[in-house]
Amino acid sequence: MSNTFTKHTDRQNLTLCSDAEQASIYTARQIADVILEKQKQGERAILGLATGKTPIKVYQELIRLHKTEKLSFHNVISFNLDEYYPICSKSIQSYSYFMQHHLFGHVDIQPGNIHIPHADCSSDRIPFYCTDYEEKIRSFGGLDLQLLGIGRNGHIGFNEPGSSFDSTTRLVDLHALTRKDAEGDFGTIENVPYQAISVGIHTIIKAQKIMLLAIGKDKSQIISKALRGEISTEVPASLLQTIPHVEFILDRDAAALIGD
Ligand code: F6R
Repeated sequence: MSNTFTKHTDRQNLTLCSDAEQASIYTARQIADVILEKQKQGERAILGLATGKTPIKVYQELIRLHKTEKLSFHNVISFNLDEYYPICSKSIQSYSYFMQHHLFGHVDIQPGNIHIPHADCSSDRIPFYCTDYEEKIRSFGGLDLQLLGIGRNGHIGFNEPGSSFDSTTRLVDLHALTRKDAEGDFGTIENVPYQAISVGIHTIIKAQKIMLLAIGKDKSQIISKALRGEISTEVPASLLQTIPHVEFILDRDAAALIGD
């Protein structure tokens, strides 16, 4: 792709793109390639998916590939990273609604193959529910690909600063900045849930391939910290510096502060 180039440094596997559109098209193509490769082998593609503003154009491109290039999702099993707690899965702020609206409602994925931490369960059932989510991922042989965005505080999934690198799926408290960033979706800060169910950092890094996509200048500072700063639980995404099977896909604005 003319506006994209991949840079393998001794530290990281970076793909720098001219703009958000190129970054999204590139990311969607990588996801489509995993799905197609698995189809060739007669296997299922186990995808870890993200929500938020960042992947919206990726999902638009996947829908385009489905509609115009016959990319089928019949072999896809999906596991979303997270969901607010508590929230009704039918609410328009829920990640269930988001995924249906931005991807699943437009492609031929089988409804029974979709997994999203569902936050309708009672609080005493959450630990069982989280163990079960991990077990389901394991039962499919783990994730073939995990798509990630990054929060302005360095969170991946809703693994907020301070999350253990060994963490698995669990109930988490949302950081004040994360709640602030969600305020627009919920109308007022009071309406933003204080908690979420999130897969853990350990769950994420076990995926065969990880793609972290960051778009826009709002992400430039945290990208510079995550890729060039100290590895610390205070910046959960910084752990990805140590993982060889991570690809960072950045548009020009998100990459502005990383230097060479
Ligand atoms: C969403 C998720 C979060 C987002 C992050 C960035 O499922 O896991 O880590 O990827 O908060 O959100 P946006 O893309 O809205 O900037």
